[in-house]
Amino acid sequence: MTILNAYDVLIIGSGGAGLSLALRLADTTRVLVISKVSLSSGSTYHAQGGISAVLDVNDSIESHITDTLNAGAGLCDKNAVRLTVLQGKKNIEWLKKQGVEFTQQKEKNGKTSLHLNREGGHSHRRIVHSDDATGKAVSKSLIERAKEHPNISLLENHNAIDLIIKNKQKKSDQCIQGAYVLDIVKNKVKLILAKTVILATGGASRVYLYSTNPDVSTGDGIALAWRAGCRISNMEFMQFHPTCLYHPNKRSFLISEAVRGEGGKLILPDGSEFMHKYDPQKELAPRDIVARAIDNEIKKYGIDCVYLDISHKSADFILKHFPTIHQQCLSLDIDITQQPIPVVPAAHYTCGGVLTDLNGRTDIRGLYAIGEVASTGLHGANRMASNSLLECLVFAERAAVDISKVLSELSTPEPAPNWDESQVIDSDEEVVVSHNWDELRHFMWNYVGIVRTDKRLSRAMRRIKILKQEIDEYYGDFKVTNDLLELRNLVIVAELIIRSALLRKESRGLHYTKDYPETNDSKPVKNTLLYPNIKRWEQENNYK
Ligand code: FAD
Ligand code: SIN
Repeated sequence: MTILNAYDVLIIGSGGAGLSLALRLADTTRVLVISKVSLSSGSTYHAQGGISAVLDVNDSIESHITDTLNAGAGLCDKNAVRLTVLQGKKNIEWLKKQGVEFTQQKEKNGKTSLHLNREGGHSHRRIVHSDDATGKAVSKSLIERAKEHPNISLLENHNAIDLIIKNKQKKSDQCIQGAYVLDIVKNKVKLILAKTVILATGGASRVYLYSTNPDVSTGDGIALAWRAGCRISNMEFMQFHPTCLYHPNKRSFLISEAVRGEGGKLILPDGSEFMHKYDPQKELAPRDIVARAIDNEIKKYGIDCVYLDISHKSADFILKHFPTIHQQCLSLDIDITQQPIPVVPAAHYTCGGVLTDLNGRTDIRGLYAIGEVASTGLHGANRMASNSLLECLVFAERAAVDISKVLSELSTPEPAPNWDESQVIDSDEEVVVSHNWDELRHFMWNYVGIVRTDKRLSRAMRRIKILKQEIDEYYGDFKVTNDLLELRNLVIVAELIIRSALLRKESRGLHYTKDYPETNDSKPVKNTLLYPNIKRWEQENNYK
């Protein structure tokens, strides 16, 4: 078995969070970054709208904080919100230094400044962007800088299977040692030892049938942390983006919220508008409201989709602001300068995740989580648009400072047991994996989606128990593959979402249940916390 032992820091994930952290640490520390597929495989590459930051003279930090707190429906951690918002401008400057080119505008006095988009929930224009392909510009620059840095090693096609924890049984002595990793190309398991491990694995939206996310978003980091013994928080708050392109040949292409920010209207097949019936902010209401409104209209009229219409703007304007969306739609014979775009909501963002403090520390010494995989308290019950990339950058910087401080105190990892394949054989029925995968995504979409009920959630939980058992048996009998590892993680994440949703006996932010349609503000509002010791958790929560 190959053992890689030369790194102080192992970063799992090469999106905005992972690469920002690597670059922030690399001048003083040797860093290994692994990525499940290519370096640009995560959601970061696909980000469209941009990054929120207070840059306009008429905008203010207090206003960005208030908007974030409002979107988060009472569950945001105020400290997390303030410190994140305060770091916006500085992090945009840092990205510019890494070579990211943001869209500029000419002002009346002839000077140029950053052009700012507007998106749902924001009371000001404050979204810095690179046309409508911000993530591509950010990813490209970060990958280039990381490749150039002598202290950063990059490994593609490496899937982290499980974390290695020393003294797992004794909470006070637990510390991270590294991870077992599958080299997907060579089909071999490697042992990577490291003093510090950072989960930067992105979200879990692929647990749903329809998602805006790339294939890698299977919640691996959340499942890894859970198996290692970390607490997981707020998993009921899965965000559905209101406007994913509805087309049989393009299932996960996002139509940016910035289209609504620039005046795009949501309409029914007969051309009538409907958002005024749901919220005074209409198309620019927070995402949970817009997604539920669309879901309701689709169900009410038995239609396949609604439409997003920006064709009242000039073709020049549309081509200038939305070149990527225009091109992608045109390739499917939809000319957005002339006709409305068919859209449906789709799973987009995981607001909950691995519980961390404000430096990205998890429950285990030396193990950090940053970016979408983490639950820092910033998003509460609903993330506001374009606050996610900002969170990746801010928490990467904070974790880098913390890691630099503690690294010398952490002990060198001891040799861990070799990966034991003596009892397993090559799979002869991969069809089990693909069937279970399909089943999981279907019932998560149907029973644990935008509108929930206790009955649907319990139904989903019954299926999860059977699936989990089947997958565990399969995992015990056969050699690991990428698909099997992802499925094993997805089923855990699905269970965590359902358990959290069953615990919340109210509707709040992204969690809407017909059984408790009101928000309950009479008691102190609490985050949902799941403990790895399920038995203890079940007793504490009186769960049958
Ligand atoms: P990711 O960028 O998802 O990267 C995860 C990395 O982890 C990948 O390299 C992946 O291969 C790796 N990985 C996963 N599991 C494993 C494993 N087991 N082993 C090894 N590696 C692993 N947010 C905004 O703020 N503004 C936007 O405009 C915006 N637009 C978006 C548009 C789309 C279509 C999508 C999908 C999301 C958008 N978001 C936006 C959300 C935002 O892009 C993500 O939340 C953010 O990029 C997450 O970054 P990350 O670094 O945490 O994870
Ligand atoms: C979008 O461009 O609509 C996505 C923005 C986000 O998810 O923050």
